[in-house]
Amino acid sequence: MTINEYSFAGKKAIVRVDFNVPIQDGKITDDTRIRGALPTLKLILEKGGALIIMSHMGKPKGKVKPELSLKQIVPAVSEALGVPVQFADDCQKADAQAAALKPGEVLLLENLRYYPEEEGKPVGVEKGTPEFDEAKKAMKASQKEFAKKLASYADCWVMDAFGTAHRKHASTAVIADYFDKDNVMLGLLMEKEVQAVDNVLSNIKRPFVAIMGGSKVSSKIGIIENLLGKVDKLILCGGMTYTFSKAHGGEIGDSIVELDKLDVALGVEELAKKNGVELVLGEDSVCCTGYDFSSFSVKPGAEIKVFPSTAIEAGWDGLDAGPISREKFAKAIEGAKTILWNGPAGCFECDDFTAGSRAIGEAVAKATAEGAFSLIGGGDSVACVNKFGLADQVSYISTGGGALLEAIEGKVLPGVAAVKGE
Ligand code: 3PG
Repeated sequence: MTINEYSFAGKKAIVRVDFNVPIQDGKITDDTRIRGALPTLKLILEKGGALIIMSHMGKPKGKVKPELSLKQIVPAVSEALGVPVQFADDCQKADAQAAALKPGEVLLLENLRYYPEEEGKPVGVEKGTPEFDEAKKAMKASQKEFAKKLASYADCWVMDAFGTAHRKHASTAVIADYFDKDNVMLGLLMEKEVQAVDNVLSNIKRPFVAIMGGSKVSSKIGIIENLLGKVDKLILCGGMTYTFSKAHGGEIGDSIVELDKLDVALGVEELAKKNGVELVLGEDSVCCTGYDFSSFSVKPGAEIKVFPSTAIEAGWDGLDAGPISREKFAKAIEGAKTILWNGPAGCFECDDFTAGSRAIGEAVAKATAEGAFSLIGGGDSVACVNKFGLADQVSYISTGGGALLEAIEGKVLPGVAAVKGE
């Protein structure tokens, strides 16, 4: 069943979206994910359905955290949909509000992750202890009850949260058990995202260049190893640069590093060599003596200077790609025919450290104009593309971060499997 075929008239649809949008001082700083869900939500309303929208925000780990309340996005969602959105303060106590919904009306449920049952992980017990197994069993049972409750609000379930489709959670997978298969379907965003991944994987035009940024090698190692079997060039940038520098005995000052992953970095280099992939690493870095990571700003009196990435003095923190690295990255992207970009090249939130990500964004846009298919994913790289005004100069902007990477790895996403009954 697809949402184009389904008859929503007079029915209530519970739609899992990913409205985990970045918020600063109460303001949404990037609404890509809200815009991404609109085609599905609008289509259901146009077809005479009523909407119950559900999402998580952040990682409240089963606790009520007001700063992660979805209530703060109600005005933005109302404006985007052109319909006043009602709000349910507790996603498990929305029976009356859901029952009262009329065709064309919309109800947004509070953050699903205020309940640990959404993720289904036991709380307060340590992994590996005998109590853990018991707690896990009990949690799985209560997760089913949690999902059943959500399902009870509606006639059908639409899965449109691509960004969370790699999670086997109550609202992204377990809930499917409480509808018959004709009342379970993927939304338009999911279909579009899956298609974009398919475009990259089944129709790779070469050279294929992947750009992986971000601070940790450890969180990206799975996809990096996987990509080394697919791409012609792999640019590694961002904070992970310093783990590579350190692995070669470089001096990295106060830059971020994973000291227990130096062998992993060397292993990546070896695998690249073995597979004939050109590995492109930054050679110089824009460094700072005092950066405030919470306010994304340079502390008063702090200095900024460029160092070779393997000779950063003590007291200096590498925060962006330097001019030599930027040129090297742009050159590596030139002439690419397939491009995947995930993760920024520096602390792009601060204007002093945007140059690396900007250079990559501009090179991707140029290659796209020359015929490449470019796929950008992950909140930060998408925010970069939007910040630099390049959004309409790339081929596809994904709403997924981890989900996109797992899909690119060829993994079946639990959110997709649940809809397909797998
Ligand atoms: C994301 O931001 O990647 C998605 O919303 C999933 O969030 P999670 O990594 O906390 O599950």
